[in-house]
Amino acid sequence: MNSINPDLTGGGAPRCPQDDLPPDAATILVVDDEPELCRALCKLLTRNRYRVLSAGNGEEGLETLRREKVDLVLTDLQMPRMGGMDLLKAGQVVAPNTEFVIITGHGTIETAVDAMRAGAYDFIEKPFTTSTTVKVVSKALEKQRLLAENRSLRERLAEFKQVHDIIGVSGPMRRSLETARQVATSTATILLTGESGTGKEVFASAIHRWSERADQSMIRVSCAALPETLLEAELFGYERGSFTGAVGQRQGRFEAADKGTLFLDEVGEMSLTTQVKLLRVLQEGVIERLGGNRPINCDVRIIAATNSDLESMVREGTFREDLYYRLNVINIELPTLRSRGEDVLLLASYFLQSYNRKNGKSIFGFTPEASAALQGYSWPGNVRELENALERAVVLSKEDMIDVNVLPASVLGGPQRSENLDIGVGTTLKDAEMSLIQATLDSVNGDKETAARILGIAARTIYRKIQ
Ligand SMILES: Nc1ncnc2c1ncn2[C@@H]1O[C@H](COP(=O)(O)OP(=O)(O)OP(=O)(O)O)[C@@H](O)[C@H]1O
Ligand SMILES: [Mg+2]
Repeated sequence: MNSINPDLTGGGAPRCPQDDLPPDAATILVVDDEPELCRALCKLLTRNRYRVLSAGNGEEGLETLRREKVDLVLTDLQMPRMGGMDLLKAGQVVAPNTEFVIITGHGTIETAVDAMRAGAYDFIEKPFTTSTTVKVVSKALEKQRLLAENRSLRERLAEFKQVHDIIGVSGPMRRSLETARQVATSTATILLTGESGTGKEVFASAIHRWSERADQSMIRVSCAALPETLLEAELFGYERGSFTGAVGQRQGRFEAADKGTLFLDEVGEMSLTTQVKLLRVLQEGVIERLGGNRPINCDVRIIAATNSDLESMVREGTFREDLYYRLNVINIELPTLRSRGEDVLLLASYFLQSYNRKNGKSIFGFTPEASAALQGYSWPGNVRELENALERAVVLSKEDMIDVNVLPASVLGGPQRSENLDIGVGTTLKDAEMSLIQATLDSVNGDKETAARILGIAARTIYRKIQ
């Protein structure tokens, strides 16, 4: 066993020679009132390529913490004037980003445990071996680095949210945001295009909020959700008896959005007949309720959105060219998440905070493996998919960091499993149940606890059923 033996290192004041260390070497402060032990630790840590500072008691150590940027403090517990426990408490205030490891002698284990409760990362017991010391130190520094990284991500996010509440710093996102800001105050019609889940609705709301119509309502109509007649009734309203079921009269969404904004979502799904009617309204600025003959003036700002390729629909004759040009006065194309890699971690942190709040959790960040997996994935479902992955991760995580084990299998680059099970009619309930259990287990790499939570059953039920 390679034990640190203070007697072998000679006496005198501890000095730590620092020859050609890498510029990013972590800084460790060793605080011990035994000069020999202090020197031995300094020597060991310097040899392991750390920048080492030393202090002979807690007060001196605290002074150093005030002056220097220290990543890790390695401190003895019992020292004259200020002991390790007091140094820990005061140090956490003056240097909140610094980690602490406690050195304990015989009979001070209980205090060491108290120190860990107070926030120290770990403790090492005298006499300690070089390998234990190096291992504990490198783990504590890794934790310190991760905390610092995640903290800086959170700070960046907070700074960002003060500016506006759409998260994104990447070039493509900045360009879309800039256009949105510029055109928000005009009354020009805007067409938002982009894949599903890229944030078209988020943008529509933001443009409305930034516009001079912000104190009026933004009314959303999904052109995909309703069959033709109902969509027209919804948009333009109707007079009594105008169609079967029209028992009274009703104001349409155009009228409701008067002086405000009308958000026509999934506009590519609108039938050709309704397109003609919409075009007329846009050209003339007046609407007529179904079954009515009184023109009603409407001062409405239109924002339309679609994830279809309207240009090719125009070529195929399924979308009217004249309507297309009316809507596409200003086009804002929302970038896919895979084209804005820089934003992935920022958005992930944003959703982590928001689902922490919703679930009463305090997970503070991501392990390096989880960060790499999130950044390496192509996100075909864009921001919505990322948000769902984060919600799931927060709910499933038992640790204070999101690790790969709570990320969906697809994100980890594992075999892409089908979301749907192929269970034909004729399958017994028992077999169907087994297939679902098996598929769920596969999707979480065989983790029975997690599978049970997803299925909403007790883990022991899974154990029993797969036996
Ligand atoms: N930049 C962003 N910042 C924060 N949250 C975002 C951002 N972009 C999208 N989201 C979130 O992602 C989800 C999907 O966004 P949204 O509904 O706006 O997408 P969409 O483009 O309208 O998708 P679809 O075409 O499927 O309707 C929402 O929960 C939204 O809050
Ligand atoms: Mg949408």
